[in-house]
Amino acid sequence: MKHVLDITDLSIEEIDSLIATAMDIIKDKEKYQDICKRKKLATLFFEPSTRTRLSFEAAMLELGGSVIGFSSASSSSSSKGESVSDTVKVVGYYADIIAMRHPKEGAPMAATAVSDVPIINAGDGGHHHPTQTLADLLTIHREKGRFNNLTVGFCGDLKFGRTVHSLVNALSRYTGIKLVFISPDELKIPQYIKTDIIEKTGMPYVETRTMESVMPELDILYMTRVQGERFFNEADYIRLRDYYILTPDKLENAKKDLCIMHPLPRVNEIARSIDKDPRACYFKQVENGKYMRMALIMMLLGGA
Ligand code: CP
Repeated sequence: MKHVLDITDLSIEEIDSLIATAMDIIKDKEKYQDICKRKKLATLFFEPSTRTRLSFEAAMLELGGSVIGFSSASSSSSSKGESVSDTVKVVGYYADIIAMRHPKEGAPMAATAVSDVPIINAGDGGHHHPTQTLADLLTIHREKGRFNNLTVGFCGDLKFGRTVHSLVNALSRYTGIKLVFISPDELKIPQYIKTDIIEKTGMPYVETRTMESVMPELDILYMTRVQGERFFNEADYIRLRDYYILTPDKLENAKKDLCIMHPLPRVNEIARSIDKDPRACYFKQVENGKYMRMALIMMLLGGA
């Protein structure tokens, strides 16, 4: 039995295989429509979500399986004081696989100690979000056709943005990647990501506060929302939330084939007028996420 807590729980070969399966699903959806018949996915979401929860549920339904679960801690017995471990142990009697989101870093890992079914981390605090990374990787594959030799800019809340941490981790396993971190000082990429991942692999990186100066060299611009829910101080959030707003004038010197990504939800950090730009890939990420979650569910259920 395999759990996916962090993107490195999947080897490069397994990611390649998930991408190949997702591409095949895109070509021939009917082939997969009964593959998880009589299997159940439980979505245990202790924190709000639109994309991750609904795409997991859509993925399982499109594989012919069923879905149970809850969408907030308040609608589960955790509101009565039940532990995550007991919740997961109990749900293992009802479901074949669990996707779990929790505001506390490490909660899905703690759940694996008692779980009799595979656990997928659907986002834990400011830590990891491996299935968003799978969506991101399929998007990069479809847009760029490669994972090597790319200059990738990450912009916004790089401190709390778990999707950034997971994607940096994933990219660290490829060659020729250059990272450009664009953030205010207060929201810089955490030191442990630099020490444990970037510096260990020797990936070149730069840190800057301005988007315009680095725009011409980027192949990918990964915008992020300032994560208000993780701030301790509302005044800081208000001061920083609109620090970067991507508007068409900021793209004047960008590459013609720049890929603009965002895990969503978006607040103000990408102007709506960018949505019409052919370089905007954030809604493609949403679609790709469902296909990668279908491929992952099948892999973890042993081909179902
Ligand atoms: N990208 C993402 O995790 O979105 P949700 O919070 O809506 O699931």
